[in-house]
Amino acid sequence: MSVRSTSERSAVLRNLLGSVVAGLLLFASFPPRPLWFLAPVGVAVLVLVLTSGTSKRGGFGYGAIAGLGFFVPLLPWIGIYVGPLPWLALAGVCALYVGLFGVVTRIVADLPYATVWIAMAWSLSEWVRSSWPFGGFPWGRLAFGQADGILLPIANLGGAPLLSFAVALCGSALATVVRAGVERDRAAILGGVAAFALAPIVAGVVWPFLPGMASGDRHVTVAAIQGSVPRLGLEFNAQRRKVLDNHVAETMRLADDVRAGRAPKPDVVIWPENSSDIDPYRNSDASGEITAAAAAVGAPILVGAVLTNDDRTTTNSVIAWTAESGPGSRHDKRIIQPFGEYLPWRGFFRLFSSYADSAGYFVPGHGDGTVTAAGLRIGVATCYEVAFDRALKDSVRAGAQLLAVPTNNATFGDSEMTYQQLAMSRVRAVEHGRAVVVAATSGVSAIIAPDGSVSRESDLFVPATLLEQVPLRTGTTLATRLGPIPEIVLGLGAIVAMIVGFRRTRGAQGTTGKFSQAAAGEIVTPAAAGRTDTPGIPAGRNSMAAGNLGQVSAKTLVIIPTYDERENLPIIIGRLHAALPATHVLVVDDGSPDGTGAVADELAAASEGKISVMHRTEKNGLGAAYIAGFRWGLERDYQVLVEMDADGSHAPEQLHRLLHQVDAGADLVIGSRYVPGGTVVNWPKRREFLSRGGNVYSRLALGVKIKDITGGYRAYRREILEALDLDTVESHGYCFQVDLAWRLIQKGAVVVEVPITFTEREIGESKMSGNIVREALLKVTAWGFKNRIQKLKALTTRKKSSAAA
Ligand code: GDD
Ligand code: MN
Repeated sequence: MSVRSTSERSAVLRNLLGSVVAGLLLFASFPPRPLWFLAPVGVAVLVLVLTSGTSKRGGFGYGAIAGLGFFVPLLPWIGIYVGPLPWLALAGVCALYVGLFGVVTRIVADLPYATVWIAMAWSLSEWVRSSWPFGGFPWGRLAFGQADGILLPIANLGGAPLLSFAVALCGSALATVVRAGVERDRAAILGGVAAFALAPIVAGVVWPFLPGMASGDRHVTVAAIQGSVPRLGLEFNAQRRKVLDNHVAETMRLADDVRAGRAPKPDVVIWPENSSDIDPYRNSDASGEITAAAAAVGAPILVGAVLTNDDRTTTNSVIAWTAESGPGSRHDKRIIQPFGEYLPWRGFFRLFSSYADSAGYFVPGHGDGTVTAAGLRIGVATCYEVAFDRALKDSVRAGAQLLAVPTNNATFGDSEMTYQQLAMSRVRAVEHGRAVVVAATSGVSAIIAPDGSVSRESDLFVPATLLEQVPLRTGTTLATRLGPIPEIVLGLGAIVAMIVGFRRTRGAQGTTGKFSQAAAGEIVTPAAAGRTDTPGIPAGRNSMAAGNLGQVSAKTLVIIPTYDERENLPIIIGRLHAALPATHVLVVDDGSPDGTGAVADELAAASEGKISVMHRTEKNGLGAAYIAGFRWGLERDYQVLVEMDADGSHAPEQLHRLLHQVDAGADLVIGSRYVPGGTVVNWPKRREFLSRGGNVYSRLALGVKIKDITGGYRAYRREILEALDLDTVESHGYCFQVDLAWRLIQKGAVVVEVPITFTEREIGESKMSGNIVREALLKVTAWGFKNRIQKLKALTTRKKSSAAA
């Protein structure tokens, strides 16, 4: 096992703590607490953890931990009467989606405008969680914690998904501002502040236009009846008759008030879900009572009833019931709750837990989400349905002018559940610009204006009647019209960013020996390896422009080995100094017969110290020439040492790509022909085949993921060369390149590949030979074997010691 340093360990602790705190902050933002503003803070804390140099795997882990910190306290009501297992299982599954957010965030965090992509990553995770598996679980979407918040009007534009995104954007922007502040990056601070302000500004612009209770040209009087249930808990099912009686009694009380002139006569009365668990189609007592209540109050009643079908299944319905003709139009709950109302894969789950048997046998309905009563089209989302965007969207599109959310939260006792659901109803009111009537068996019942404000609200576990004049509205909001489009666009945005992010990491692909035990040759960016990292708004430091390389290139030595390159040398040095004028050059000439050495001397004389020449007497291969060059550079003050061929194959114009990665934390950067974006120009098929073959073989033999380990266009960080024992490097030909990379990987260096265009020489001849290929083949094979044997040894000694223990 690798030994972590104290600083690494404290970073892990800090991140763990940060993740838990982030999750708790998200939880705290949810009702009944009015602390909506903690949600962006929670997101920000999590994003800061995720962008503090964690790996992708770490990103998943920290995200999932934040998810636990969020969902475990959010969902205990799941387990109130069935024990903690389903609650913790569900919280655990939900946490995985926050883990997904963590991974995606890791991938997109280095892109320009990462602030936005990170917020979209949150949207993506909510989208997936709300859809899959078993129809998804939208509880705890950030939007549903914002009913009291200033961002709520955003729901009017793009529904719950856009509202969630707005919260996530504020959070991710906050993280950007904090990080940019620490790095004193003025531009990034400004960008972050702008991103942070965007959503509140939009919300502020929309807010005055939200319709209130007085809006609309027609109003109707609705009554929400809360009959209350005799006892908490599942047993209330055994007392179904009592529940029905309670709702009848409360309705009769209202009828008395109306007759006595103490209350206005309602146009429609709304009972909760499960107000008649006795099927009124099959039980004449029940239907008689309901009809009597409707007659007394003089208005149709929406009755929540459980209907028994001819097979053993049941249907959770809302029936428009009139005194004159009994049951009329009906909404059969379309989105039924897995594991509660029905059990997906029943046989399978029963294997694991007897909880399985407490799930019902409900079947979903197929209506349009509306019922018609008293000539009104009323959109109905029964309980769980209100969490799903499509439920009430379908209702409104089918012509609903008023919305009802009949619900039965008695099974969840006096937990926070009913408040969480009420907040969803408030978001729906704004989303569709409709009044929403929440009728709950045991509370909280409420009447909500189209602007999301609550005009009436009942207490828990007491009978109550809420009467209100509510507007009928026909116009559609942008959110209703867009439907699922915002969610899709935001989710796809994250996916596209992810693909681009992936490409980038692969374009700058790397291997580090740091993780070589756990995952030999794991791909990392320097950032992921915990060096420098700039998440958020684009940072000039990591950008791919040649612009601000001043400090780096001034300390860079480009070593050019030459053998018979008299025509090429002036060209390549000219191009180099045109591209990066500050770089120094060391020509290492092995006494070229064509007089390259003299040409180099002339160039040096005219260069004001920027060009130096090392004359060697013997032709000893480019490996030996580079070693000599490295020594020379290390004796001086150079921070980065570059390998570059004289023949023009390595474009000096692309050197900045390599230097940027060193700047960003890599120890060795390989200009790579074989990562996406890399190419070879003018190579005969035979040569390309040989080169690709050599690379594939090296990858397999050594077990590293570097695509172009033989590549000879490279930049080394000074320290990593100092850590090598250069005396022991004996390889001559291009095997030298493999040799050095392999040594560095084993030392734990961060190795990164960046794409280059390799153009075959036009002048002179390659010094490639059969000997060079043979040397490489033999040596790479030997290194591979040696490595495997060492690993085997390590494995057996570990086994022995654990057997002994
Ligand atoms: N001083 C010195 N001594 N320089 C040499 C010697 C030598 O013995 N052999 C080659 N060079 C110089 C050449 O003058 C040229 O500047 C550079 O090293 C590359 O030599 P080429 O002969 O052009 O090599 P190549 O094109 O076959 O190989 C290139 O691609 C390989 C991967 O396909 C090089 O970049 C290799 O390092 C790389 O492995
Ligand atoms: Mn060449």
